[in-house]
Amino acid sequence: MTSELIDLTPSATGIETDLHQEFAAARKAGPLVPAVLLGLPGWVATGQEVARDLFTDPRLSSNPRLAAPHLKEIAPWAFAQITAGFAPSMLSSDPPDHNRLRRLVSSAFTTRRVEALRPRTQEICDELLARMLPHGHADLIEDFAVELPLRVIMELLGVPVEDRHSFREWSVVAVSDPEDPARTLAALASIHGYLDDLISRKSAEAARGTAGGEHEQDLLTALIAARDEGGRLNAAELLSMTFLLLLAGHETTTNLIGNGTLMLLRDPVLLRTLRDDPSLTGASIEEFIRLDSPVAVAALRFATEEIRMGDAVVAPGEVVFIATGATGRDPDVYLDPDVPDVHREPARHLGFGHGIHFCIGAALARMEADIAFRGLLSACDDLALGVPEEDLRWRRSPHIRGLRNLPVVFSPR
Ligand code: HEM
Repeated sequence: MTSELIDLTPSATGIETDLHQEFAAARKAGPLVPAVLLGLPGWVATGQEVARDLFTDPRLSSNPRLAAPHLKEIAPWAFAQITAGFAPSMLSSDPPDHNRLRRLVSSAFTTRRVEALRPRTQEICDELLARMLPHGHADLIEDFAVELPLRVIMELLGVPVEDRHSFREWSVVAVSDPEDPARTLAALASIHGYLDDLISRKSAEAARGTAGGEHEQDLLTALIAARDEGGRLNAAELLSMTFLLLLAGHETTTNLIGNGTLMLLRDPVLLRTLRDDPSLTGASIEEFIRLDSPVAVAALRFATEEIRMGDAVVAPGEVVFIATGATGRDPDVYLDPDVPDVHREPARHLGFGHGIHFCIGAALARMEADIAFRGLLSACDDLALGVPEEDLRWRRSPHIRGLRNLPVVFSPR
């Protein structure tokens, strides 16, 4: 076992302090090595084969409540986020609850359903670009990368889009302000209160039979019916599910667009290749996820019994971090792993996870990112960073790998 402790904590000090250096050190040290994420000790896996095995290992649970008392002392951020009045979601539950919860929404995220959302997503993208372009500069994160997926997922769920700014403010704190658990808890309480009111309002509309109009088919109304008619999920689970979909539905794609754009700005040849041949957009998106996944450390897993691997002995209750942000650079799988290559074989990666918790929003994220990158590159000429690269900062989030802001300059085409 290595004596070096791998620190997965995102650095707020500068863009150069790179998580990928920690991943490389972990990879050298062994298949499963001691690591810490914002005060939470555990074990990190960076190799693709090992990660794949761990994703389906029955000795690992996705339910953090197993370790809750112990979390409160050592990682108050994790405790606050896990227990702040939210019932287990599909992401944080094991079978059979997991299957029951996932089945309720899976049909809304099939490739066919997602393709039906393409025209509306394109409209939103065009509107955002039209607003940005005349200025010649923008914060690509807040002006574009947040708005696009947030509006899509709110419309899909039937959450009023005019409330997006409040929701975004709370979710930024909830996801990336772990230094101050009281602030995190307050943001989570605001989200809880907001969703509670919204669900009551929509339940009353459904009961009066007035849930018509443009939101008649929205997912939240369908979930309310599943609660009322089928008893297939309880009130607390309904709230938790809505929160999970809203949050996972935008934070991830937002940072895929942000991290991917940064990669393009750092690599003018790649930028030109993509601009000259937009049919390579899909392959580029897979490379962005492989190289710098917005979910660098996939949701935590908790050992339910002892696990031995190499020199590692994981005790029951201990955390395992499956580093999906590292598996994409595994040199045993990829040639020149650190280099983007839109013609790469094999191009598959574990960025969307593996096994029963495989990302339910993968098709949606790919469609949104496809529209975003095609739109951005066809609308903007001379796209460049608006500040020196050393001024950029990663968010200090245990869940998300993404930039706080990404100032860019451009001229409209
Ligand atoms: C699960 C990544 C976009 C919703 C996951 C997991 C990963 C992931 C790694 C597995 C977590 C685990 O095993 O514990 C990503 C990435 C995205 C993305 C990299 C964008 C590039 C989205 C979107 C949605 C979404 C747009 C919108 C609905 C979910 C949900 C789960 C999940 C609900 C839990 C599934 C389950 O537990 O069965 N995602 N995701 N994701 N993702 Fe995504």
